Amino acid sequence: MNTNTEHITVKQVTNSRLPGIDFNKLAFGSTFTDHMFMCDFKNGVWQDATIVPYGNLSISPAAKVFHYGQAVFEGMKAFKDENGGIFLFRPEENFERINKSSKRMAIPEFPRELFFEALHKLIALDKDWVQGGLGNSLYIRPFAMATQVGVSASPADEYKFMILMSPVKAYYTGDVRVTIAQKYSRSADGGVGAAKAAGNYGAQFFPTNLAREKGFQQVIWTDSNEHKYLEEAGTMNVFFRINDTLITAPTSDRILDGVTRKSVLALAEHDGIPTDVRRLTVAELVEASKAGALKEIFGSGTAAVISPVSAFAYDDELFELEKQTDSYASRFKKELMDIQYNRSEDPFNWRYPIG
Ligand code: COI
Repeated sequence: MNTNTEHITVKQVTNSRLPGIDFNKLAFGSTFTDHMFMCDFKNGVWQDATIVPYGNLSISPAAKVFHYGQAVFEGMKAFKDENGGIFLFRPEENFERINKSSKRMAIPEFPRELFFEALHKLIALDKDWVQGGLGNSLYIRPFAMATQVGVSASPADEYKFMILMSPVKAYYTGDVRVTIAQKYSRSADGGVGAAKAAGNYGAQFFPTNLAREKGFQQVIWTDSNEHKYLEEAGTMNVFFRINDTLITAPTSDRILDGVTRKSVLALAEHDGIPTDVRRLTVAELVEASKAGALKEIFGSGTAAVISPVSAFAYDDELFELEKQTDSYASRFKKELMDIQYNRSEDPFNWRYPIG
């Protein structure tokens, strides 16, 4: 990997926008902190690493990212504990995954040292943007895009890697109603489903809009071959509780290796909850629901943490889920947040102190 380990140069804002921010009125990911990180890939080397005031970019309209979607991203969060300490949650996982995504999208990998130095410096500068209190966090969005000018359909030789930070509250409020995909697909064998490639998400918008028109917030994606196996929910991994067993699809080149997904599985194993990582069919789900064995469905992801599903639709039939007094979704959400906000022991070493 070509690495230019020069230090990050920093240009600070003269006036912070922080005093003007109403933290009670934050639409997810629409308010950004004072600073952002940028680094360019040119002549085969990542270089010119800088932190600058958050602001617009000037990029050629012929940059390849606009034409071929050569772009990848990550989602991470910083949390503040009761003593003002700031923690990331398993950032190494995000670092490794963005490079895995980059590799799949023919984008050069980003150096570990610069990634972590950028996070440390950015968070140190904008630490007052991390609000304390359960549910408040700083959503961190690293991303890379092809900036080379030219509309020939080939990988770029110039890129920009950036990190933005956005104070957020909960992603979804309340339970989510979902519909099971019978026509559209999120990913295919050999495709980019396992990558956090920008286009993966853009391609979901149209089928999700169709679902919304029918009163559902999200789509449960099924395999593209037969629409037979349950794979993901919206932008999240998905879990099913049948009787007391927690079931989720195995990762593959169609399914994102979610950090929250693997954390939930680890917590379940730690708590002695039976887990079954296997392909679950729609038919089994419907049958379990009819037999009263389906107790819960929930999505897991960095943005939403755990998002309980209250009903699903399949073949125009609606299946409602009853609230469970011993809900796995509530249990894992609490256990995850207790670790994230430094309110409990961290037996897995997931917390990463950063400020
Ligand atoms: C995440 O949960 O981190 C996601 O990827 C959701 C994001 C698309 C808002």
